[in-house]
Amino acid sequence: MPRLQDRVAVITGGTSGIGEACVHLFAREGARVVLAGRSEEKGKGIEARVRQEGGTALFHKTDVSRADQVKSLMEAARKHFQRIDILVNNAGIGQQTPLHQMEEEEWDRVLDINLKSVYLCSRYALPVMQEQKGGSIINMASILGLVGFPGAGAYNASKGGMRLLTRNMALEYARDGIRVNSICPGFIETPMIEKELDPETLKDLAEAHPLGRLGKPAEVASVALFLAGEESSFITGSDIFVDGGYTAR
Ligand SMILES: NC(=O)c1ccc[n+]([C@@H]2O[C@H](COP(=O)([O-])OP(=O)(O)OC[C@H]3O[C@@H](n4cnc5c(N)ncnc54)[C@H](O)[C@@H]3O)[C@@H](O)[C@H]2O)c1
Repeated sequence: MPRLQDRVAVITGGTSGIGEACVHLFAREGARVVLAGRSEEKGKGIEARVRQEGGTALFHKTDVSRADQVKSLMEAARKHFQRIDILVNNAGIGQQTPLHQMEEEEWDRVLDINLKSVYLCSRYALPVMQEQKGGSIINMASILGLVGFPGAGAYNASKGGMRLLTRNMALEYARDGIRVNSICPGFIETPMIEKELDPETLKDLAEAHPLGRLGKPAEVASVALFLAGEESSFITGSDIFVDGGYTAR
């Protein structure tokens, strides 16, 4: 029996990297997936590929930092599939500017997309989950929500905030049967880091993981699947580090 049979999952940032890996894995496990992202072309392409593989997916163009668009995303999920069982707050952007050179607009953009989006998406998904008396929310935080990284001040702050918001939500909604956890990946081979960092830096970063390499999107998606499904039924308010030992030092 597929592990997410007939569950409805909303996955933000589902058009690339870790989110895209979650979309395919969740659909293979029987979930009806609503993927949110900004690129219509990429989103429609992924939607079509999932359908070719025999799964169910719906792309909804969404900027997760905009309340009106997030509201419309959750309404679309409900209209098409009647429920929302799983929310993966995955959309995010990286950042590489020392604090003293960072313009206010950049700070706001990183915090809006990485952290405010978690509030907005949860704000509109939680009432549906409360009505259903259950749900699982997975926040894609980072090892950089635990340890600092030069040049990543706004990113560090957003991911640290995300981890504590996870605990807040876990407590507030536990009695509604809603579990809320975060995943803290190490450096994962996705466009986010491949676009931003040069090959030499990527090599050094791979070395900084005790396992001696970067992670793969599928290695994060499999943990999201675990948190989404019944196998993690007594886990809430936790962070799961998927970091090849990076934070074990
Ligand atoms: N790659 C890593 O090393 C790494 C490590 C730790 C945590 N993460 C986190 O994992 C998540 C996914 O990152 P990724 O590595 O797959 O990167 P990615 O760049 O491949 O994917 C990010 C996705 O978020 C979407 N997105 C960005 N801004 C958005 C917005 N305003 N509205 C809607 N969608 C938006 C992008 O379109 C894309 O689909 C992010 O939250 C990131 O911070 C990544």
